[in-house]
Amino acid sequence: MSKIAYRKIVVERFGGTETMRPVEATLAEPPPGYARVKVLASGVGFTDLMARSGDYLLQRKVPFTPGYELVGEIVDFTPDGPRPAWLQEGVRVAVSLTKMAAYTEYISLPLWQLVPLPDGLDPLAAATIPLDYLTALSVLETHGRVATGDTVLIQGASGGVGQALSRLGALRGLRMYGTASAPGAEELLARHGVTFIDYRRQDFETVLREREPGGVQAVFDHIGGAGLRKAYRALSPGGVLVSYAFSGRPGRMVGDTVRGAARVKVMNLRPGRRAALSMVPFEIKGDHAWYRAGLERVLEMAARGAIAPRIGSVHPLMKAADVHAALESREITGKAVLVTDQV
Ligand SMILES: NC(=O)c1ccc[n+]([C@@H]2O[C@H](COP(=O)([O-])OP(=O)(O)OC[C@H]3O[C@@H](n4cnc5c(N)ncnc54)[C@H](OP(=O)(O)O)[C@@H]3O)[C@@H](O)[C@H]2O)c1
Repeated sequence: MSKIAYRKIVVERFGGTETMRPVEATLAEPPPGYARVKVLASGVGFTDLMARSGDYLLQRKVPFTPGYELVGEIVDFTPDGPRPAWLQEGVRVAVSLTKMAAYTEYISLPLWQLVPLPDGLDPLAAATIPLDYLTALSVLETHGRVATGDTVLIQGASGGVGQALSRLGALRGLRMYGTASAPGAEELLARHGVTFIDYRRQDFETVLREREPGGVQAVFDHIGGAGLRKAYRALSPGGVLVSYAFSGRPGRMVGDTVRGAARVKVMNLRPGRRAALSMVPFEIKGDHAWYRAGLERVLEMAARGAIAPRIGSVHPLMKAADVHAALESREITGKAVLVTDQV
């Protein structure tokens, strides 16, 4: 085994896309309990853009490599205990990271974090799955505890996490409302039976009061701010508000996240309704078994076509800065995937 020379994208200082650049590095042999993985594709999430600008609660210090999710091939590994049969060189794996670093050609990862791709699953489609779908599982199951027939509101149902919530929600037989504004959002939401609310022109609380006078069983929110109180009011007795981000005011998200998380905790003290906070990187770190079982489950669902992850666009890894710029200007929409030369 020898050192591997590779390239990765580094954010050199917090700011715009000009702060991102390719950097050459080398990867040493894996220590016990680690594998070296050749990355094929990485998913781009809104969180990556927040982290680049220094506006993210779980912020990495600069210089850092963005990206929470990837698909790759095991190059080599050093076991530190009994080896599962699937763990072999050349096996394709999906990974959700607890600290960003996915915009890279190679990476060293702990063995517990590698989840094998089921046969036949396209690696690019798989790269769109880990963070968004684990977040959806956390929101729907761990915190939301929703049941078939429940009525829910998904804020931002056209986004990466919002689409994962919609797809898994449809499979669970939820009745769903979703806020969005992007062109084509109404048709996109309709594919999963989600009733569209245009958040630029309609007030979701008014719509829900008219159409669901008894309230909804759950609201899933990533915006925060004044919308949280409205969402709480829209709940039926026993209903739950699950917050998974506080991204309504770009540039002020760290403070808003701290305040928003405190507000959710206070809301949860009131009797009659619940409020909960989903923080997936912590949940992965705290419960490896939940992470592995959840990711295995959604990958298997994708492999058999029960969920159809939607790739918005595909770009070379080294063009990551252009992809951030295009997402910010809304030149491209949907889930962007970065691919290495090795895919
Ligand atoms: N808790 C966790 O562990 C966790 C995990 C993953 C992501 N996140 C966070 O979740 C958030 C969403 O991430 P993502 O990757 O899904 O982002 P994304 O793909 O950019 O989606 C954002 C969504 O928000 C919608 N939106 C924007 N402004 C809105 C408003 N005022 N009201 C309602 N909806 C609005 C957008 O709708 P249109 O484009 O249709 O206007 C879009 O559907 C981010 O803040 C991210 O950091 C948290």
